[in-house]
Amino acid sequence: MLEINNLKVSTNGKLILNGISLSFSDKKVYAIMGPNGSGKTTLAYSIMGHPDYRVEEGKIFLNGEDITQLQPHERAKKGMFLGFQNPVEIQGLPVLSFLKATYTSVKNSNVSTYVFNKLLKSKLEEVGFGSELLNRNVNEGLSGGERKKLEVIQMYVLEPTHVILDEIDSGLDVDSLESVAKAIKSYHTKYSSSLILVTHYARILRYITPDKVIVISGGRAVAEGGPELADKIDREGYGWLQQVEGS
Ligand SMILES: Nc1ncnc2c1ncn2[C@@H]1O[C@H](COP(=O)(O)OP(=O)(O)O)[C@@H](O)[C@H]1O
Ligand SMILES: [Mg+2]
Repeated sequence: MLEINNLKVSTNGKLILNGISLSFSDKKVYAIMGPNGSGKTTLAYSIMGHPDYRVEEGKIFLNGEDITQLQPHERAKKGMFLGFQNPVEIQGLPVLSFLKATYTSVKNSNVSTYVFNKLLKSKLEEVGFGSELLNRNVNEGLSGGERKKLEVIQMYVLEPTHVILDEIDSGLDVDSLESVAKAIKSYHTKYSSSLILVTHYARILRYITPDKVIVISGGRAVAEGGPELADKIDREGYGWLQQVEGS
């Protein structure tokens, strides 16, 4: 169970999250939607403990433990994972070395290269993507879609229990969207994690049905509902929010 309680977060001196309270139960799927600039990425970063995002008020609990002050790597060790909206390029760092280093750090496990490569091979079979990305450097020259696939591969390797994926569907063509969505769904089913999908569009939610859709606007959670809310947003956009917020 992941809970955020009255969270107020600022960055560069500007208050972005304005008192958000949400709870994410195990084995459930949540979709977080909202207009551009509404604070979705800030929420994802804050949950993961990004140092540029300052918690002014409120708390974050993981299975009852207050993790508000923990560093991102400490949260990762507790089973949290954030797939970035815009994964950054790390020039000259081979994907294999990167994955092994993060695995070693998050799992506190000093595996040999031989053992790790075997593990990686079985993970790739599970995830259902080809192995081409393993021969590249981290995000260097990768397309938007390939970057997102690499985030999903990382998730499979690290085996987190609480997963947040920030716009994992952006930059994917139709075929990649389907394979990425299937990989995420099957991960969620196997490892029974709580899954938070930050997304602009309902299209990924056609493959992974959310238990709850939460709409964020102006740094607040302003509406929630079932999967039909995502379809309404796809059809109508966010114009109706003004009425909700004004009421
Ligand atoms: N590092 C930052 N410095 C200044 N403003 C930021 C920073 N990060 C986010 N913001 C601002 O916070 C607001 C919310 O941004 P973000 O969380 O990225 O929204 P979303 O992901 O919903 O599009 C925006 O107005 C954005 O410009
Ligand atoms: Mg964002």
